[in-house]
Formats: sequence, structure tokens, C-alpha cells
Amino acid sequence: MNRRYRKTLIAANWKMNRLPGDCRDFIASLREYAAGARWCDMILCVPYTHLPAAIKAAKGVKVAIGAQNCHGEAAGAYTGEVSCRMLADLGVKYVIVGHSERRAMCGETDEQVNKKLLAALSCGLRPILCVGEPLNVREAGAELDYVRVQLKMALKGVDERSLRHVVIAYEPIWAIGTGRVATPEQADRVGETIRETLRSVYGARAARGVSILYGGSVSPENAQQLFSMPDVDGGLIGGASLDADSLKAIADAANQ
Ligand code: PGA
Repeated sequence: MNRRYRKTLIAANWKMNRLPGDCRDFIASLREYAAGARWCDMILCVPYTHLPAAIKAAKGVKVAIGAQNCHGEAAGAYTGEVSCRMLADLGVKYVIVGHSERRAMCGETDEQVNKKLLAALSCGLRPILCVGEPLNVREAGAELDYVRVQLKMALKGVDERSLRHVVIAYEPIWAIGTGRVATPEQADRVGETIRETLRSVYGARAARGVSILYGGSVSPENAQQLFSMPDVDGGLIGGASLDADSLKAIADAANQ
């Protein structure tokens, strides 16, 4: 991380876990900690159903609430979908776009991810754009090219001013929920490539201000080493974020 130029972010991704009623106690247990944790911003991304409860519980707490998905259109005949305008209206600040689970399970394409990202920005939401390669791509040594393409496609039409609001999460698919974490060097190598790609499109100043997170089996045990790398500006944390103490321990690891 490099706090001179960018924010350190600790983002929890609850995925399809817990119930709306769990938000109150969970967020209350972060209240004091988050107030003192000046070295990082904390974000909690919950299912749609949990958002109102989470937003209510986070009033006066230094935890921003995020959604895990959104639709790319502003409104219309899209049964079951939720627009960015609806999320923003609730008080949501962040939205995860392009998570590999959605790309795999729902067939989300790079074009759709791009639409979602643009929709989020146009509504004042901060997208957390997920990129990352599957195992066979990593084994073929092609991960840097793979991530470069995902990144460029997702950011099509995003100008330099809007880039400031984008957060990028590098999440190698083989590391998500597997307990097989990337090494700090692997995470940093891709983080560096993401920043180089941003630099080539937006220039050095814009690129150095973007927070690039690592996600995939982050735990209290491995977080400090990961966060010590120059192009790892925090984490997107799934399994280990379901327990408030473990989330706090991961945020502690960013205090270096
Ligand atoms: P994990 O998930 O920490 O459980 O590996 C990370 C993510 O998918 O965002």
C-alpha cells in the first residue's frame, strides 16, 4: 500500500450469507473500532435484502455500505433486477461489479460489467470492479494479459475524473473461497500491472490515486504480508468477513 497517494480499503463481501437482522449487531460491534481505524476505510457489502438494515445500523458509524451487484440500465422491464439509482437512493455508497462468481454463474460478460460500472458512476456510487484469472490461465502464465483485457473492457468510456471513484479488486479465481491465497508477490505483480495499464490510459497522476485491492482467501494470518506490498491497497474479504473479530484483525493488519 502507499497511503500517500491512495486510500487503504478493507471491504467485506458477505456474499449470500447472514440475515438482515444480523446487520445491527455486526455493525455495532465495529463502531468503536472503525472510529479509531484512521489508517483505512471500512466497507460492508451485503445482499440487497440487507441494505436498509445495514444502512440504518451504519448511521454515525465509519462503515460504508455497499451492494454486491446492480443492473446496467437505469429503469425498465427487468424483473428481479435493481438499478444503481435505487441503490443510491437508499444510501448505498459502493457496489461490487464483475465479481467472478457472477461472471461464472450468471454469464456476466465484460460488456455487461462495463455497463454496470458506468451506471454506478453515473449515480454517484463507487464501483468495486473485480478482475482475475482462472487457474488454467494462471498455469499458462497468461494472467497479466487476461487481467489487462478485463480491465480495459470494464473501463471503456470512463474518463479520468470518474476514475477517481473506481476501486479495483484483483481476485484470482483459484484463490476465492479455496484457502489457497496468492503469494504477496503474485498479488503485487498483478496489482502493478493494473496500475501500469491505468497509467498508460489515464496518466501517472490518475493511476497512482486508484486503490487496488486483493481478494481471495484473505485471513488475519496472511493479511499483513499481502498489505505490505506496494500495489495492494487493502482487501476484498469474503469468508473471513463474516466474523467481526476476524474482519477487525484483517483491518489491524493494514495498520503498518
Ligand atoms: P474469500 O472471497 O475471501 O472467501 O476467498 C473473496 C471474494 O470473493 O470477494
